[in-house]
Amino acid sequence: MISRHIIGPKYCNRVTVKQIARYLTGPGNAPKLPSRLAFAFDIDGVLIRGKNVLPAAKEALSILDGNNKLGLKIPFILLTNGGGESEEERCRKLSSQLGVQIHPEQFIQAHTVLKSVVRNYADVPVLVLGGKGDTLRRVAEGYGFQKVYNTLDILAWNPSIWPFHDLTQEERASVKPTDFSKIQFGAIFVFHDPRNWALDIQIMCDVIQSRGIIGGPDESNHARKPVDLVFCNPDLIWRSDFEAPRMGQGAFKVAFQAVFQASFSLTGSTYPHVQFGKPTEATYEFAETMLKHRLQGVPKPSLYMVGDNPESDIAGANAAGWKSILVRTGVYDPHHGPPSHQPTHQAEDVAEAVRWALEQENCS
Ligand code: G3P
Ligand code: MG
Repeated sequence: MISRHIIGPKYCNRVTVKQIARYLTGPGNAPKLPSRLAFAFDIDGVLIRGKNVLPAAKEALSILDGNNKLGLKIPFILLTNGGGESEEERCRKLSSQLGVQIHPEQFIQAHTVLKSVVRNYADVPVLVLGGKGDTLRRVAEGYGFQKVYNTLDILAWNPSIWPFHDLTQEERASVKPTDFSKIQFGAIFVFHDPRNWALDIQIMCDVIQSRGIIGGPDESNHARKPVDLVFCNPDLIWRSDFEAPRMGQGAFKVAFQAVFQASFSLTGSTYPHVQFGKPTEATYEFAETMLKHRLQGVPKPSLYMVGDNPESDIAGANAAGWKSILVRTGVYDPHHGPPSHQPTHQAEDVAEAVRWALEQENCS
């Protein structure tokens, strides 16, 4: 007979007696109740702004670490449209900033989902955009891409391709010397936010125009397969520690498509592309698999997304059938009217969001 006094009068989500029996750790120990709920936290504007940890972040993570009425450890993942370095490196930095251990198995950033498509491009020359220097080359190679180049490699090969940027010493030291007249690119991946939009847009148009061989003839009409184009983060804006939101990778995409359409497209249309990142279905499917793995097979779990951007965090969670909580510490500003996507709940900050969710699940 499971004594009710151990688990208190209210079950967290009415866990069955059988499940509790399975998790009891022995006489006198607090039972390890299986959590029926899990969280996905956005990072920028929810936990962190720029280099600063938001005040409510540590309180929220402490509640999930068992500092709640049932002593329940509640699983969570971090789901960000950010990127620019390896998952391992970003988790190391986040663990230090947040004061809790964040593991790569609970972390998804904009380009993480590319791990699921790399098999189609493993030995194809690909152009990787974004990030600092050649950091993302190493990240892409870590995913399994074997022929990875960036726009600095191309500028080092032929400086006249964009005469308005002189490579710094540090940039020159990071390039992979290559004769690009002998390389046919199969795809362009915008992993993270480009640092030199003009250089990158020029080279994207060159690669697309020539169907992969920079400086080659205009092959727009050629039967050869067009170059694939993949973006990993649709955010037009995001919240750093500046007073107003900053332009995101989505703004870069608008700039590229405007230039391509005006100057290079033979049909006057934008260039077809694949979009990953929140709110896309692929990214939320990837996240739901990770969340359910952390819930150890608990049936019909309650999944909560806490985010600051209605366009990415709330829209994606709603479409995925999760519960969504919009916080007012990032992109969303209630003075600008109602959110473009209606969340399940609005909260001042991430700690209030977590407390509200636990109340909904009878866990507080
Ligand atoms: O580049 C990061 C930005 O687009 C938003 O990041 O953490 O709010 O999804 P996050
Ligand atoms: Mg955000």
